[in-house]
Amino acid sequence: MSTFVHIPVLVKETIEALAVQPGGRYIDCTLGAGGHAAAILEHSSPGGQLLGIDADPEAIKVAEAKLQAYSGSTLLINENFVNLRAICIKYDFHPVHGILFDLGLSSLQLDSDTRGFSFQHDAPLDMRLSPSQEITAADIINTSSEAELAHIIKTYGEEAYSHQIAHRIVKERPIEASLQLVRAIERAVGGRKGRIHPATKTFQALRIAVNHELEYLEAALKQAINLLGFEGRLVVISYNSLEDRIVKQLTQRESKDCICPPGTPICICGHTACLWLINKRVITPSPAEVKLNPRSRSAKLRAAERIITQDESYKVAEKLNFLLAEGEANGWRRPALLKKLRMTFSLS
Ligand SMILES: C[S@@+](CC[C@H](N)C(=O)[O-])C[C@H]1O[C@@H](n2cnc3c(N)ncnc32)[C@H](O)[C@@H]1O
Repeated sequence: MSTFVHIPVLVKETIEALAVQPGGRYIDCTLGAGGHAAAILEHSSPGGQLLGIDADPEAIKVAEAKLQAYSGSTLLINENFVNLRAICIKYDFHPVHGILFDLGLSSLQLDSDTRGFSFQHDAPLDMRLSPSQEITAADIINTSSEAELAHIIKTYGEEAYSHQIAHRIVKERPIEASLQLVRAIERAVGGRKGRIHPATKTFQALRIAVNHELEYLEAALKQAINLLGFEGRLVVISYNSLEDRIVKQLTQRESKDCICPPGTPICICGHTACLWLINKRVITPSPAEVKLNPRSRSAKLRAAERIITQDESYKVAEKLNFLLAEGEANGWRRPALLKKLRMTFSLS
């Protein structure tokens, strides 16, 4: 097992945004080294439960060791969060009080000398979160056309020099190692000019493409909203503008009662809000946190609370009426009725 240090980002803010409470049930979709998970378990004690998910089997091993003291309250699953709904159904872990996504990579992955995520040291250009995935970064680099490469680098890296970089890559391939790719990029666009290394955006683009990061994030967020109980919290920490845009757009859309195009005279969409945005503006790390942990500098936290939709409120009212009638017919006393109501509507 690798020994390394991953400093979790915005921990206090995450616990507050999740409104972690004793006895609560939480999902950490990006377990990593288990830093946030440990904080959630600590604050949800006694009685808290945590389902931790990570696509990387190495992360699961590290988190398992870190969370040993809470082994009776945790369920750690080596899976991709794109399968969140299926995982929760399989383990009967829903509805929940809170779901966390702390996106991107952990230090375990960034500092690995076998996976090629970083442009700072040499490693094979793999970039897969899980060894069970078929396509590596080297496969994309060495088999895509120049136009496809330029598109990936532009779309997922927002790189202004995507065409020059793609052209150079095609000229210099096969490219199998990270530093070989760095040299090709430097030859395409020159060395470091500002604060950002010239390979930063291309490496981000390849990682996103290899792991389908944006598609999977959007799919998982939609599933997460439906796994939250009433007043359950969704918290997402993102590290680049592409991720943050997806989180912002989806949560804003789901917090609106009507999503008809502007100017539509009467509502025809039938959409009803199922989220309430807790922070209108993103929460970012303090200068002190960034100083302590420079990797936190690009973090942005967004949080939303699950509210009941109009459709759901009709169903709840119907169910309530039914239960009250059943209670009256059977002569249930108050404790029995309350127990039944709790079993039907609440999380515990
Ligand atoms: C920034 S780290 C999380 C660190 C963690 N919060 C902690 O405190 O240690 C992100 C983790 O999410 C995992 N990850 C990223 N995308 C994933 C996906 N689609 N499915 C499952 N895990 C994913 C990565 O493998 C990585 O371990």
